[in-house]
Amino acid sequence: MTRRPLVAGNWKMNGLKAGLSELEAIGAGYSAALKAKSDFLICPPVTLVAEAAKAVTGKGVFIGGQDCHAKASGPHTGDVSAEMLKDAGAAYVIVGHSERRADHGESDAVVRAKAEAGLRAGLVTIVCVGERREQREAGKAIAVVREQLAGSIPDAATAATVVVAYEPVWAIGTGLTPTKADVADMHKAIRETLGQRFGAEGQNTRILYGGSVKPENARDLIIQPDVDGALIGGASLKAKDFLGIASAYI
Ligand code: PGA
Repeated sequence: MTRRPLVAGNWKMNGLKAGLSELEAIGAGYSAALKAKSDFLICPPVTLVAEAAKAVTGKGVFIGGQDCHAKASGPHTGDVSAEMLKDAGAAYVIVGHSERRADHGESDAVVRAKAEAGLRAGLVTIVCVGERREQREAGKAIAVVREQLAGSIPDAATAATVVVAYEPVWAIGTGLTPTKADVADMHKAIRETLGQRFGAEGQNTRILYGGSVKPENARDLIIQPDVDGALIGGASLKAKDFLGIASAYI
């Protein structure tokens, strides 16, 4: 099996209804050449999931949530379940983004429970991992990520249902990026870890790179043996930049 690249946008807490015009432009720009090479996914804020799903009907662009609760329903004011995202038209959900780990104190165990919810609801679940700057400087980046993988990925994960996103925390929204060699080393380590635990499913699981991906650096960062796409924050808000990154695959 060859791994089909996934070009994924995470809009974070950005986007009002007017911003859906960028999503429409992404749908319009998802050419036959791009479709032949990669999947497209946009994860808008939860308020826009249903409208976004409508806006890309027939375009082949997937819509996803940025987080979900572990439970399907219940007394959890302000939370959104994986089933609700699915019902609104999402096909994917991101869990364990470093901003949620930091802002909401989400542990690996919490992330794993959310990932299990994503699988239960039939959403492809993107599990995010990544080291902080001081952990990299201490030479612990790979060990930290291995531990996050062990703690955050459900045992039931398969290549079709789980995607891993490696996002070094210090590279998110900063304009800083790891070297090509550092990305290669980390993705190789992630691949080995997944292979040891999940066998062929691990070999076939997509591993995205995220953190300051832009059209100018996309080729260097994502055209590498164990890099199967990108998770893009800031640059996914503009169709031109998102399409510019995706064009690295054609
Ligand atoms: P960035 O964000 O592309 O703005 O660095 C990436 C992410 O957090 O997913």
